[in-house]
Amino acid sequence: MRAVDIIEKKRDKKEITNEEISFLLSNYLKEEIPDYQMAAFLMAVYFNGMTDAELLEFTKEMRDSGDVIDFEGLKRFHVDKHSTGGVGDKVTIALEPIMSALGMGSTKLSGKGLGHTGGTIDKFEAIKGFKFSNTKEEVIEIANKTGIGLMGYSDKIVPLDKKLYSLRDVTATVASIPLIASSIMSKKLAIHSDAIILDVKTGNGAFMKTLPDARELAETMLKIGKGFDRKIVAVISNMDQPLGCAVGNANEVIEAIETLKGNGPEDFTDLVYNIAALALKLKGDVNTLEEGIAKVKEVVDNRSALEKFALFIKESGGDPEIVNDYSLLPEYAGTLEVKSEEEGYVSQILAEEVGKAAMIIGAGRATKEDEIDHSVGVLVLKKVGDFVKKGDVIAKICYNESKDVEKSAKMILGAYKFSKEKVEKPKIIFEILE
Ligand code: URA
Repeated sequence: MRAVDIIEKKRDKKEITNEEISFLLSNYLKEEIPDYQMAAFLMAVYFNGMTDAELLEFTKEMRDSGDVIDFEGLKRFHVDKHSTGGVGDKVTIALEPIMSALGMGSTKLSGKGLGHTGGTIDKFEAIKGFKFSNTKEEVIEIANKTGIGLMGYSDKIVPLDKKLYSLRDVTATVASIPLIASSIMSKKLAIHSDAIILDVKTGNGAFMKTLPDARELAETMLKIGKGFDRKIVAVISNMDQPLGCAVGNANEVIEAIETLKGNGPEDFTDLVYNIAALALKLKGDVNTLEEGIAKVKEVVDNRSALEKFALFIKESGGDPEIVNDYSLLPEYAGTLEVKSEEEGYVSQILAEEVGKAAMIIGAGRATKEDEIDHSVGVLVLKKVGDFVKKGDVIAKICYNESKDVEKSAKMILGAYKFSKEKVEKPKIIFEILE
């Protein structure tokens, strides 16, 4: 078998066999097929896509390139919620304790933030002493005690994805739906779960800018999940403005805790409650989302979800007292109020711009090597649909070093769009695909 023949078949839109996919990927991992041939293959996929059979085999080879973690002995119904990433996306922080309080478990891989999007690892690392599990043994121990098991991505899980992604990044082949779907799903399938809930974001701050693209990605991932006999659903959610109010790390932890106390922002609360209710439905505990949401409200009102959060923090090396005392989180030096220069209804808040405005003051990374400042961030105080007068404070920047604060404020002002006409509050969930 020769790589060049496989590339030629893909170029000419002919279906490639399982053996050919396995040959190509396993030899690429062993560095017996060079980057230039893999780059040519990826570009052929970029233009010609993949058939369903190719997609499943490609994902399987990716998954099997490293460890597959099967949490035998974990008794709970395990749900892996995956987000395609956005601005202010702290869903995992509030969702996992809620699911745990509802008797479910979650064991999932989490990542670090890059560019305008944040990462769950960074948010939890805002908590002094918090240590992410690096091994299967560590994650099982914590998950057994708390129902929550978060683990950082390791080189042992889907090593092929890391290698391929680096190549895609420099060959303009990232934006291919089958490549994105197989990359994400190989990592989901490498770790045991009873059900997968995909939160596919769409809008200005998301990877998928339009609803049709988000739908296509969601449907492709559903196809893969079902092909591997997993229970799987996808939520397509709005990322045309930051999620909730807080964008940063420590401030997002605070917002998630407030949500567990029942005081979260409306859009964020709505999304978390709906995803938890979907999980209950997949588990078979409820028949409708309404029933599920009622159960979620119970564990928020009786504080059992908050207790699970505190327990998870304690077991992970942090101080559980942070749920009562936010001064235990890293603090910033100063704040700058961003005041509106216009009057009208907020019609859009370009989430990507807000994410970048937070990044340049240190809340995020421009490159993988950058250090982040967990204390700083942006608070988005006026959201789409709100009426704003000239001079009203629309956002607040919490900073440590003043050098980029004015620039950040300008970016936030530029991110806000206004309309003279009344604007309805947008829906947070556009569609649920099963
Ligand atoms: N996220 C992933 O994990 N993989 C991709 O290809 C794109 C986004």
